[in-house]
Amino acid sequence: MRILFHAAGHKPAPWLEGLEAALPQAEVAEWVPGAPPADYAVVWAPPQQLLDEQPRLKALFNMGAGVDALMPLRLPAATQLVRLDDAGMSVQMAEFVCHAVIRHFRELDGYEADVRAGKWSFRRPRLRGEWPVGVMGLGVLGTRVARALQGFDFPLNGWSRSPKALAGVRCFAGRGQLDAFLAASRILVCLLPLTPDTADILNRDTLGRLMPGGYLVNVARGGHLVEQDLLALLAQGQLAGATLDVLREEPPPPEHPFWRHPKITLTPHTSARTLREESIAQIAGKIGAMERGEPVAGVVDRERGY
Ligand code: NAP
Ligand code: GLV
Repeated sequence: MRILFHAAGHKPAPWLEGLEAALPQAEVAEWVPGAPPADYAVVWAPPQQLLDEQPRLKALFNMGAGVDALMPLRLPAATQLVRLDDAGMSVQMAEFVCHAVIRHFRELDGYEADVRAGKWSFRRPRLRGEWPVGVMGLGVLGTRVARALQGFDFPLNGWSRSPKALAGVRCFAGRGQLDAFLAASRILVCLLPLTPDTADILNRDTLGRLMPGGYLVNVARGGHLVEQDLLALLAQGQLAGATLDVLREEPPPPEHPFWRHPKITLTPHTSARTLREESIAQIAGKIGAMERGEPVAGVVDRERGY
């Protein structure tokens, strides 16, 4: 069995060593143009040339959960596209989102500013029941985030493409129930995949439907958010603020208003990182299952785009 590795921005050596250790029967090599045909490839942002030269690939393993960057590429017809399915990401996402939600709900930025200004002052405690959190996307990450937020007793709404039943979560599905989901939520967490159906979904109309003083946490993709619409809603006071882990352009150009906006907390696409050991173990397990003819989780439906 032959496995190719290509990942822009990642040091190849530890991945090659890890894959070799996990799959001792395989020959693992970094992809170079003209490389001999392989059975599997482990990639992040591969060039089209790799796919054109590797028509026999049984599967292309994406080193992330989101596959939007791969969608414009032409894959060999028989090649399955497989994404990371948690692999240590959901706990990171849960801690990041809970932190963002609680930081806003408990007004921790305000307290910090007060203390730095020498003020020992109290704000009236907010009523948790008036702060429902809406999670867009109830997949691997969204479900874990909803569960974690439940631990802090926030009322929870969830929105997905197909109907779901999650204990303690008011579930909405499809475009027909989007407005009702938004109107029932004050804090909105986006954990959708970026697809033609979800691009620009965080816009003046949708964000404007949140309960007054709404707050946005976007940890999915920058392409979900219409940035100018967010700026306008913040300026009007219709939204109280946002935590953005993802942007259309990463990093944003120096003049981008989000860098220094007082109501925006920006992080550099770090809410749920790809963890090498967990990812290699998952990919190796899936290669073993595929070789035995067994189904694996995380196979992307290319029609749906996720
Ligand atoms: P997932 O398991 O595929 O879940 C996607 C969820 O979105 C599903 O519940 C799906 O509904 C829902 N959905 C998809 N299209 C929809 C639509 N048109 N309308 C309503 N709901 C829709 O994906 P995941 O593993 O949770 O990851 C979600 C995304 O997080 C990734 O695609 C990636 O962009 C982002 N991410 C970001 C980071 C970061 O560091 N910032 C890290 C990892 C992932 P169904 O359940 O009905 O299919
Ligand atoms: C990161 O953003 C991922 O999709 O894994």
